[in-house]
Amino acid sequence: MEILENPALSKKELDDVVKIHMETFPGFFLTFLGKGFLRQMYKGFIAHEKSGLIVAKNEIGIVGVLAYSENLSAFYKYLIKTRLIPFAWYSLGAIIRQPSAMVRLIRAFLKPSETKREEKYVELSSIGVSPKTKGQHIGSKMIDKLKEMFDANKFAYINLETDATNNEGVNVFYIKNGFKLERSFETPEGRKMNEYRWVKK
Ligand SMILES: CC(C)(COP(=O)(O)OP(=O)(O)OC[C@H]1O[C@@H](n2cnc3c(N)ncnc32)[C@H](O)[C@@H]1OP(=O)(O)O)[C@@H](O)C(=O)NCCC(=O)NCCS
Repeated sequence: MEILENPALSKKELDDVVKIHMETFPGFFLTFLGKGFLRQMYKGFIAHEKSGLIVAKNEIGIVGVLAYSENLSAFYKYLIKTRLIPFAWYSLGAIIRQPSAMVRLIRAFLKPSETKREEKYVELSSIGVSPKTKGQHIGSKMIDKLKEMFDANKFAYINLETDATNNEGVNVFYIKNGFKLERSFETPEGRKMNEYRWVKK
């Protein structure tokens, strides 16, 4: 098992990454935007200089993926700037399938600027492990890699948000990995969320 940062992904490996996302986040908004959208988004995490992708790779292929950013707002702006036409195309497909998606789409792209703070931090944007290899500490190894790369001289903490309800396993997972609950809040859609932080000792 290798844990790699920003590797050059083959087409098959990028497909693995997208498959893991579809399998681990069923029903989530970005999943709803479709495979084409996710392919562009994950390629974007690798390409954007203030964001990155950590992957777990074994002999079968990619089995885990963690996306992070030092500036999610800049990341989304970068995606729009460099991939406007494909994004407009995939978003249009989603809006046709479900017109109410438009409001969420706008909010999703505006949200990072709402959470602007004084201090600099690293946002763990998403983490997923293939259902076939769950419970083998692959998720923890990817988090260890992110912690290892974390520069305490530049950033105050690693931050993340996750669902507070019907999501006990993931909340346990983050606590076991040294994250502390910072606050609980509700999204405009009424989703109850927990925000966790990890501070380097
Ligand atoms: C959450 C997730 C990334 C964990 O990856 P993983 O490789 O299976 O987790 P690990 O094996 O590293 O687990 C580390 C610890 O957390 C615990 N844990 C992980 N998932 C758990 C669960 N569902 N319920 C209870 N504990 C859990 C493990 O028991 C383990 O504890 P241990 O060290 O005492 O054995 C993975 O299950 C996943 O992809 N889930 C779906 C996607 C998701 O919801 N992502 C998070 C939101 S961004």
